[in-house]
Amino acid sequence: MTPFSRPRGWPPPPDSRLRILLLGASGFVGGGLWSYLAPRHEVVGSYATRPVPGLVRLDLRDERRLAALAADGFDLVLHAAGLVPLEAAEADPALAHRLNVRPVEVLLDAVRGSATKLVLLSSDNVFDGTRPQYTEADARSPVNVYGRTKVAAEDLLLAEGGHLVVRIPLVFGRGPWANTFLARLAGPTTAARTDLVCAPVYLPSVGPALARLWDRTGVVHYGGGDVVTRFELMSGVQRALALPTRVVPTEGGSGCRRPPRLVLRSTRHGLLGPGLDEALAHLSS
Ligand SMILES: NC(=O)c1ccc[n+]([C@@H]2O[C@H](COP(=O)([O-])OP(=O)(O)OC[C@H]3O[C@@H](n4cnc5c(N)ncnc54)[C@H](OP(=O)(O)O)[C@@H]3O)[C@@H](O)[C@H]2O)c1
Repeated sequence: MTPFSRPRGWPPPPDSRLRILLLGASGFVGGGLWSYLAPRHEVVGSYATRPVPGLVRLDLRDERRLAALAADGFDLVLHAAGLVPLEAAEADPALAHRLNVRPVEVLLDAVRGSATKLVLLSSDNVFDGTRPQYTEADARSPVNVYGRTKVAAEDLLLAEGGHLVVRIPLVFGRGPWANTFLARLAGPTTAARTDLVCAPVYLPSVGPALARLWDRTGVVHYGGGDVVTRFELMSGVQRALALPTRVVPTEGGSGCRRPPRLVLRSTRHGLLGPGLDEALAHLSS
């Protein structure tokens, strides 16, 4: 392994304007991050298939271009791009590896020895969901392909030192352009599991939380304030927005394995996302 010292210049002075590369700015979480960060910092954001004015086109598989972009002297590279739907990853593990793991290797090579810090968005799906909650110290044991790609990507980043993995749970809310969460409530009926428990985070809270955490290195968790079932979450969102769908409680499911209970907690900081009622009041306002 190449020796790597902590990136120079970190932490930056408080309130400094950073140059940030936001990979996956066209996505649901990336869009939320863009909304918070673009007015405060100098942000270059990327899209792959969903063009958004002001973002640059980038396919993660174009390794030369990815490396050239990442090596352009950014303070931070926030990596929120990849193959996210669990079923898609399960159906094509090679593609999941290609999009979720290999780009991290390319990014690390591109910034090694420079002042650029990488921040990888990871997931609670690195855990198996058999414990009441998970902190940064808990052992990972993914039960699906998506979770395994996240573990592999984390390992690459953590082996270098000086960079940061931020694990987040299910994110809910309305994005500025991509709305993969609300799309789940688009049909006349919405099946929602009563046997899957989570501590979801509200999208507008993720940017501010990330900005308070990005001077850390290693792994940090950012979890939501309330522990609820998927059914409770979906019913709450349906009511808050008066969406024309009937949320139907279900148990079990076909397709890929999902951890039954994912609650992220931190022993490294006291940040927690807003509770469900507070978030839903904001969503409906
Ligand atoms: N959503 C959640 O609840 C959640 C929970 C935990 C962790 N995360 C993590 O948060 C990050 C973002 O997730 P998300 O929900 O925002 O997913 P998303 O809405 O599906 O967005 C994925 C992003 O990746 C980009 N992308 C996909 N394939 C690409 C490729 N070949 N080359 C370049 N870019 C590509 C997409 O670009 P286009 O749309 O332009 O194609 C989009 O910007 C991921 O790392 C995910 O693991 C999300």
